[in-house]
Amino acid sequence: MCAAFHNTEKRKLPLVRGPVIRREYGNVISKITLSVWIAEEGLVRVAYFPGAVAEDEPSYAVSPEYVAPGAEIREYDEPGIHVIETRLLRIRVRTEEQKVDFYDIVTDEPLLTDESGFGRESKDWTGDCRVWIRKHLQDTEHFFGLGDKPCALNLRGKYFSMWGADHYDFHEESDPLYKSIPFFLSLREGRAYGLLFDNTCRSYFDFGATDETVLSFGSFGGLMNYYFIYDRRPLDIVAAYTRLTGTPELPPLWALGYHQSKWSYYPDKAVFNLVERFRDLGIPCDAVHLDQHYMRNKEGFTWDLQNFPHPAGMVGTLKEQGIKTVLIVNPGVRINPEHPVWREGMERNYFCRRSEGNLLSEEVWPGLCNFPDFTSPAVRDWWAELYRKDIEEIGVCGLWNDMNEPVVFPDRTFPMDTRHEYDGMPCSHEKAHNIYGQCMAEASREAMKRHAPGRRPFLLSRSGFAGLQRFSATWTGDNRSNWEHLKLANFQCQRLAASGISFAGSDAGGFLGHPTPELFCRWMQMAAFHGLFRNHSSGEFGGQEPWMFGLEAAGYVKAAIEGRYRLLPYIYTQFHRYAETGMPVLRSLALQCFENMDTYWRGAEFFFGDHLYVIPIHEPQEGGRFLYIPEGVWYSYHDDSLMRETGRDVWVKCPLDFLPVYVRGGAVVPRWPVQQYVGEIPRPPLSLDVWWAPSGEVESRLYEDAGDGYGYRHGECAEHEFLFRGGPSSLELSWTCRGDPCAFHESAEVVLHGLSDAVSVAAAMDGIPCGSVRRDGRVWRIPVEGKFDRLSVTWDRENLFSA
Ligand code: NOJ
Repeated sequence: MCAAFHNTEKRKLPLVRGPVIRREYGNVISKITLSVWIAEEGLVRVAYFPGAVAEDEPSYAVSPEYVAPGAEIREYDEPGIHVIETRLLRIRVRTEEQKVDFYDIVTDEPLLTDESGFGRESKDWTGDCRVWIRKHLQDTEHFFGLGDKPCALNLRGKYFSMWGADHYDFHEESDPLYKSIPFFLSLREGRAYGLLFDNTCRSYFDFGATDETVLSFGSFGGLMNYYFIYDRRPLDIVAAYTRLTGTPELPPLWALGYHQSKWSYYPDKAVFNLVERFRDLGIPCDAVHLDQHYMRNKEGFTWDLQNFPHPAGMVGTLKEQGIKTVLIVNPGVRINPEHPVWREGMERNYFCRRSEGNLLSEEVWPGLCNFPDFTSPAVRDWWAELYRKDIEEIGVCGLWNDMNEPVVFPDRTFPMDTRHEYDGMPCSHEKAHNIYGQCMAEASREAMKRHAPGRRPFLLSRSGFAGLQRFSATWTGDNRSNWEHLKLANFQCQRLAASGISFAGSDAGGFLGHPTPELFCRWMQMAAFHGLFRNHSSGEFGGQEPWMFGLEAAGYVKAAIEGRYRLLPYIYTQFHRYAETGMPVLRSLALQCFENMDTYWRGAEFFFGDHLYVIPIHEPQEGGRFLYIPEGVWYSYHDDSLMRETGRDVWVKCPLDFLPVYVRGGAVVPRWPVQQYVGEIPRPPLSLDVWWAPSGEVESRLYEDAGDGYGYRHGECAEHEFLFRGGPSSLELSWTCRGDPCAFHESAEVVLHGLSDAVSVAAAMDGIPCGSVRRDGRVWRIPVEGKFDRLSVTWDRENLFSA
């Protein structure tokens, strides 16, 4: 059934590109070779190779696009120690013991040092092997990251496993879960480092659970192979990790809008009615996800033509209404000689086999299935080709890969002796399990690039490894409609962002069970500030659409969704920066305010991009709560009231229509009017909302392009930078732009917040007084013709707020 096949290169070995410096330290007794690679001033790879040949392995974590910039190093020897210095690090290698210790180059403070160091146990008669490393854990050290773990943000004192698992009805502390992201951050009194353990076998991390003075991690197979990442700020470390494992491509703008999903919307009439309801009620929506029931007998690459007689017609009609269709696709291929996908998989020998050569056959949704070996480039290539019809002819805009941990019924995975190609280094499932889902996502992403080359892909994958962000967005899996899960969803989305995946969301409202109206409102308010905003539910507990919880709740939820659409230019700009530099979009309070150790045990609060600070409500009937307001000038985003006490906890009232969100004084937040879907207004009028601050400078950005396609790679985009300078009775805003400043919005205005009612404002643009400045309620509006270089605003008396 498929036509052209593409040559897919074997996966490149890690860190082969760029001027990497490698040092080796052999030990004739242990027959272990320790290798240390300096890839960047603050990025070092350490690996221990057993045996006579230091045979490296493919890395699924390190991006093939990553080019190590190298570092200027200085080397010398001390007794028993080889020292390598970069501009950031002093690395002391205890050569005999094969231990590696990292110090800050300026203060010579230990950052991470080996306790007993590397260990290995192998049973030659069974082939079983374990590798581990033990390091000193400092009293003041705290840990963050590790992907989707459903627990408080701070991981100190805990033990975790990495083994992708579909934990039905998971709860707080369930471990392991769907994703295996073996990257963590350590924070300690204003110092931070990151560590990626690049090993796909079942692994573990012990952050002082067994011995509070020891940090250890290890795996049941594979190499001891880790990357140590050092920089001054934790968020820069996350960005460096994200560049190492691959920055994501900029998503299509519509994918940052609101997604509606259920298991399942069918038949097609139900989908049309759903969309009609959104449009009638004026609730914005950009995507509808079709779960299993669009398929015939739940078989991938089929349509149930009883319920969906005209897939292309339906998808086209939805598109005219601004709705993009996203399809679920699972890995299992039903054993069905009638189905060309199964037949072709058999003919090509693309399905996984057991150690003795027999096919792996297990039960999943469609019945007894065979499973493609996605760790083979040829299989990925074939799988990508299978989507041609859905994408090219039917017009599907997004894909959703589920069950790819992989899961087989009941609650299991593949037998351990299942064989995998592992991109040229064949192995058993013990080594391929944690990477299987990500390889499927890689194939699905390739499908979208191949069959719709002019559009940017949108993909959602439940499972993944380090580097998942290169291929896919993700969600936190099958949660439950209760308050505990709302809180966990907040922790998980922040934790995923700290692990390189900012395009993450939860099933807003909860997957299992039915939320109360209050819980639903709170969840939707929070999800509007997560990377992915999708409401999904299992369908059997009652509808979970925005209007299902009474008029009052519908109003609040509509407001939350509209708030997201107003902020789209800001959100898109943050995603652009994430795509360019790896800087996460969601930034946990502790990661941003890391000098303040009081923040290390806080979990609710996060920064959404550069200038917004969000505190989701985790408890029912919370009329108000204490929350931490960071140092600096902060306003309530909803009513512009200035937070007079900062750098401490304050009590804030939180009625149900109000989610505490704060905006930084001096920020320029670009906003649009509400649209029912992205593109409804082709060049939306742009509002540059500025919140006054009495002193200091604040930088802001705006990125604009067509919102989809690749014109932006050929200069069809505009990158704006704003510099705010505040004074007691004035402010100045300078604006520089690369690209045509007016190409993507039809008009612009500056909207000034934070001035008291008593002041009267005058403004000049590039020295010419503006005649049309006007007060509008609590804001001042200044229309902009085209663009200015410098806007000066003065007022006649000291702003009340500056007192
Ligand atoms: C499990 C997924 O996590 C869920 O989101 C989906 O609705 C069901 N599978 C059915 O496809």
